[in-house]
Amino acid sequence: MYSLLPNAVILAKEYVAKALGPGGRAVDATAGNGHDTLFLARLAGEEGRVYAFDIQQAALDNTLERLRAAGVDKQVKLTLAGHEEMAGYVTEPVDVVMFNLGYLPGGDHGIITRPETTLVAVKEGLTLLKPGGLMTLVVYHGHAGGAEEAREVDEFAAGLTQEEFAVARLSFLNRRQAPHYVIIIEKSR
Ligand SMILES: C[S@@+](CC[C@H](N)C(=O)[O-])C[C@H]1O[C@@H](n2cnc3c(N)ncnc32)[C@H](O)[C@@H]1O
Repeated sequence: MYSLLPNAVILAKEYVAKALGPGGRAVDATAGNGHDTLFLARLAGEEGRVYAFDIQQAALDNTLERLRAAGVDKQVKLTLAGHEEMAGYVTEPVDVVMFNLGYLPGGDHGIITRPETTLVAVKEGLTLLKPGGLMTLVVYHGHAGGAEEAREVDEFAAGLTQEEFAVARLSFLNRRQAPHYVIIIEKSR
């Protein structure tokens, strides 16, 4: 219906596409059904590397199937672990970290990202970012626990110093359906 302001996920991807190119490194902190992992894998190309995390095997299975169908699974490392553990698996600086919070569409809506682990992962992700690197967080506040997570993520992001990070939030002020907004964080060069 809208091509310039379609939704928060597409806005996140537009910024990610400016920060990640062939040979680049990226983290998908919430692999889910693999749409974002596929997007990152295509941008990074065969010479690149994408680290994707999820706590549900079903999510990783869906992601692998999507990557294989597109022929871009070789540059992706899928890990069944919480994103709060990413620092143990990602041992090189990265250009991009993407988060898409909430629950797995088509899966168990009771398994959701939680503020205590999300914040640990956001901090780890910001440390892993190269100078000039980018983090995106697509945030939902409609489900149980979502509003609390949104509040904590907003508060943390707003507290980052402007000398180290530029932080923006793009919200759809008049839209009822999720996702509700995207937070975009650029690390200073
Ligand atoms: C909204 S979905 C992600 C959608 C996905 N990016 C895509 O493109 O299809 C959120 C995912 O986060 C996962 N998740 C929840 N807690 C997590 C954690 N601590 N670490 C990693 N993933 C987690 C859920 O299992 C779910 O698959």
